[in-house]
Amino acid sequence: MADKSIYVDYNATTPLKAEVKAAMIEDLEIFGNASSMHASGRLAHGRVEEARSAVAKLLGAKAAEVIFTSGGSESNNTVFQTMRAAASAPEGGAKTGRTEIITTALEHPCVLNSASYLKSLGFTVHFLPVDEYGKVKMDVYRSLVGEKTLLVSVMMANNEIGTIQDIGEIAAIAKKAGAYMHTDAVQAVGKIPVDVEKLGVDYLTMSAHKIYGPKGVGALYVRTGCPLYPLIHGGHQEDGLRAGTYNNIGILGFGKAAELAAGEVESYGRSIAVLRDRLREGLLAGVPNIKINGHPQDILPNTLNVSFPGAEGESILLSMDIQGIEASTGSACASGSLEPSHVLLAIGVGPELAHGSIRFSLGWGITEADIDYIIETVPPIIERLRSMSTLSPQRV
Ligand SMILES: Cc1ncc(COP(=O)(O)O)c(C=O)c1O
Repeated sequence: MADKSIYVDYNATTPLKAEVKAAMIEDLEIFGNASSMHASGRLAHGRVEEARSAVAKLLGAKAAEVIFTSGGSESNNTVFQTMRAAASAPEGGAKTGRTEIITTALEHPCVLNSASYLKSLGFTVHFLPVDEYGKVKMDVYRSLVGEKTLLVSVMMANNEIGTIQDIGEIAAIAKKAGAYMHTDAVQAVGKIPVDVEKLGVDYLTMSAHKIYGPKGVGALYVRTGCPLYPLIHGGHQEDGLRAGTYNNIGILGFGKAAELAAGEVESYGRSIAVLRDRLREGLLAGVPNIKINGHPQDILPNTLNVSFPGAEGESILLSMDIQGIEASTGSACASGSLEPSHVLLAIGVGPELAHGSIRFSLGWGITEADIDYIIETVPPIIERLRSMSTLSPQRV
């Protein structure tokens, strides 16, 4: 077993930042139900509202436009279920009669499966194709959007290859057509600046555990005036839009993580991109015949997705793990799946090559020495696996 442990899977999840952990430990003492009227309840309520303001500030939103959820998956599901209700709103509902949804082939499964579910209910769903770098094909988008479009949902940054979409432009086209615009910004928030006003989106999804906050808590931004129908019915929490006793500790940790992210997003991006570029150049120099996936410029500063022809992804992962390097073959949600990554297939990487692809996603705490260790360790692993492989040593 290696005496090292280098975690480079920050797109799957992040550790709690020390300040977040300290704040959460302190908050364990605040046990009141945030909906109670007595002093303990008011104390908890006040802290929840402070957290809401911190999350809103990070997004350039108003506090009243932020709803706490259990995470990115719930936020995305809520938007799609809202569309189901909006489409069947009584006569006079702003979007009555609109039955088309436009999303992309690259989305996270919680969006893809929500869209497929609406399709099974009779909605027309278009999964937009993307180019070889993962950018939405805008001409196809323009040809599909129209008076029947109810929702356009395009992720801001992809979790596997890091490609960033032109959400501002996509949103402007959606709004011109009278459709609602949603973006899943789970991977973007905290890594690049995200401002709901500049983007012009109606709904935006985020998740605490991708920004050094706790798991099991997230948020949905809902622009003032846009509809939201509850996924969870019950009490009057979140103005009746998301029932259930507040997850105080999670929400407070989320607030702290958001506050920290707001102050560091620019410097984080700059410093992490330097390390990511060092890793990319080191691997390109050390391993012959590899392919870098994702957009050359419009890409998250922390993400590097590499295809290693002639080597199998799970074997690469296991070999790296033995040497103390923790990366992934794609998204954590797809781990264990024998299917090749739908994201890599969408950008035109063949199934065999997709199986030999690794995502390195960097974060706070990674050092130059860690990167150099990866650059030294990976080439012999690939050489050994290629020499044993029955896979075709295809060139890229
Ligand atoms: C792009 C994207 N959307 C949504 C999610 C789901 O978020 P959560 O884990 O908070 O449900 C993830 C998590 O990996 C993600 O990467």
